[in-house]
Amino acid sequence: MTERLLPDPTGLARAASLLRDGRLVAFPTETVYGLGADARDDHAVAAIYAAKGRPSFNPLIVHFADLDALKAMVEWSEEAEAIAQSFWPGPLTLVLPLREGARVSKLVTAGLDTIAVRMPAAPVARDLLRAAGVPVAAPSANVSGQISPTRAEHVAASLGDRVDAILDGGPCKVGLESTILGLAGRPTLLRPGGITREALGHVLGRRIAERHGSDTISAPGQTKSHYAPRAAVRLNAIEFEPDEASLGFGDVEADLNLSPSGDLTEAAANLFEYLHQLDAKAPKVIAISPIPHLGLGVAINDRLSRAAADR
Ligand code: TXA
Ligand code: MG
Repeated sequence: MTERLLPDPTGLARAASLLRDGRLVAFPTETVYGLGADARDDHAVAAIYAAKGRPSFNPLIVHFADLDALKAMVEWSEEAEAIAQSFWPGPLTLVLPLREGARVSKLVTAGLDTIAVRMPAAPVARDLLRAAGVPVAAPSANVSGQISPTRAEHVAASLGDRVDAILDGGPCKVGLESTILGLAGRPTLLRPGGITREALGHVLGRRIAERHGSDTISAPGQTKSHYAPRAAVRLNAIEFEPDEASLGFGDVEADLNLSPSGDLTEAAANLFEYLHQLDAKAPKVIAISPIPHLGLGVAINDRLSRAAADR
């Protein structure tokens, strides 16, 4: 059963404690309701993808109330400072280089070396983030492909009991997702929103590039910077060769096993971390067990087939 919580001290404390326990909490921001989980917790983040039924691992935005905590996760810059001074807290997301050693699930960044961060303005969101004291990864709180939720009722209708709690803060003011500005390289508008390209360019004193092809949803997974192992990848391996690094699933002997019990949420939680660990041993080939093509398995197979193709 999904808990319905109000943004009073009791409800906020409950929502915060659920987040710290690795559970999913939908909460209002000024843009749309987010489906939140502890961004450092692989299993919690895997549960976000499972609840949304996304067919791929799009990187997620991490939400903060505390600017120092946010800065600890990224490579901060003068341009980021100028934008933050002008627009935070507010409906703006920055994509910045991920700081070396930052504690965040690789499933949040989908293995990228950049991360999307934002400081929402809605008081309920800020209260929750402060009470939780953890960075909160949150995509819009709807099933993939449905319209974004701007009321608690929309979240309940879309996600049903796939979310542990819904914090009801009434309707969202903006009703449109945050503007996304990429500052990992040349300033680039990655997703248009209420804060315009012109307003951003004015603050930076330079023109903001526009992304070609407006599809920011699929783009990160297709760019060169997207994580692909250096090793060749062999999929659907029933048996492993002695010189291969092996990544198992289910009841098989392997160097690492995504989920010995065959649990797809556990497999998703381990996916990026284990690929990194095996690749670090510099094998020629990483051989991977077949993953059932259902539920989260669809997203896992999407990522694996790209890893196998990206050469
Ligand atoms: O208003 C919002 O931003 C809402 C509320 C809940 O904060 N969140 C939201 O999240 O819209 P989501 O997951 O629906 O959209 C995240 C977007 C995706 O288009 C994703 O591709 C992009 O952010 N993104 C995340 N990390 C990125 C990265 N490292 N590089 C490029 N794009 C990134
Ligand atoms: Mg969305």
